[in-house]
Amino acid sequence: MPAIQVRPGIHWIGVNDRTTDLFEGLWPITQEGVSYNSYLVVGDKTALVDLTKIGKEGALLEQIQDVIGDRPLDYVVVNHMEPDHTGAIALLRRVFPDVVFVGSAKTRTLLESFYALTENVQVVGEGDEIALGGKTLRFLMAPFVHWPETMVTYEPTEKVAFTCDAFGGFGALRGAIFDDEYADMGFYLREAQRYFANILPSFSGPVLRAINKLDEVDVSVIAPSHGLVWRHDPSRIVNLYRTWSEYATRPAEYGITMVWGSMYGNTEAMMNAVAEGISRTGIPLTIFDAARTHVSYILPSLWSQRGVMIGAPTYEASPFPPVATVLEMAEHKRVRNKQVAMFGSYGWSGGARRSLEQKVEQLKWQWFDAFEFNGGPSHEDLRQGEAFGERFARAILDS
Ligand code: FEO
Repeated sequence: MPAIQVRPGIHWIGVNDRTTDLFEGLWPITQEGVSYNSYLVVGDKTALVDLTKIGKEGALLEQIQDVIGDRPLDYVVVNHMEPDHTGAIALLRRVFPDVVFVGSAKTRTLLESFYALTENVQVVGEGDEIALGGKTLRFLMAPFVHWPETMVTYEPTEKVAFTCDAFGGFGALRGAIFDDEYADMGFYLREAQRYFANILPSFSGPVLRAINKLDEVDVSVIAPSHGLVWRHDPSRIVNLYRTWSEYATRPAEYGITMVWGSMYGNTEAMMNAVAEGISRTGIPLTIFDAARTHVSYILPSLWSQRGVMIGAPTYEASPFPPVATVLEMAEHKRVRNKQVAMFGSYGWSGGARRSLEQKVEQLKWQWFDAFEFNGGPSHEDLRQGEAFGERFARAILDS
């Protein structure tokens, strides 16, 4: 995509990535893609805020030169060191040998360890400014959004906040960059939530602190480094991020996420019965087959709904591994404040329940109850499964 003016003297330049299958080598984006947004701020001097990943830097350079022509690039602001935003450093150093890299004290350390870069580095602290002549860059420290060195850059004349990962989302841009240019926002809102739930839940506290800091600043445009640029309604994405971050410390929405797996259909039959009981109450229910759904797509629901129903047969004295894997990731991402119940089939000795109870203790979730059955479910088992689902749903609704 060519450069696009965000505000006078501020240009979006970015790279749409539709060929990477796994973001961070982990999260699927084959269907959705992702954008690495950079921003050129042009005054008497020029500054580039955040870069792109390695392999995409040629496109970035072309866009820079489209905007500034033969003028030198004076500054590169490194809001965040993760290589999806710094992979172009080597090329920029070759093309602009005098460019100064700007970042927090921690960024200086990371620039050396990642890129052996020790010269032409300017360290900035809270509230420091760089005058570009006609434009100003002000730096607000935002550690752990998402790494320890992260910061937000604010341009006060145009009131643009360059927030890097904060307020970002998966989803390549479809020829337009602004929130008011898309009639159907469903895709980008869903992908922003998936991005948050995959990348940032462990950093919810720092995200909230960054939001509180931004509340003190007059912001007319939120310009993150992934996904849409929010100029029409920047408060929409800020408030969504605020709500999602708060779920780290308080119960989330009234709803149940069912994560299930089945080897030969017995636990699947019970899953349908339990779902029937839950749905009878009218509570929102989202169902994921753990063996066939990447955890990336399960995490947003797990994060944003307060009830979790696990459906797992016993597999070698443990819960069915695809379901256990989801819970491992939930622990890694510090998914908290859930009420949880489980059901599942066992062949001879059982064991899934015992193991799940231990896992739930580690997760600090509130254990409701379990409903296990031997072998294939009888009609009576299914009837009890329905009642079990309904009882759990009513407990969630009463919570
Ligand atoms: Fe988009 Fe934490 O990097």
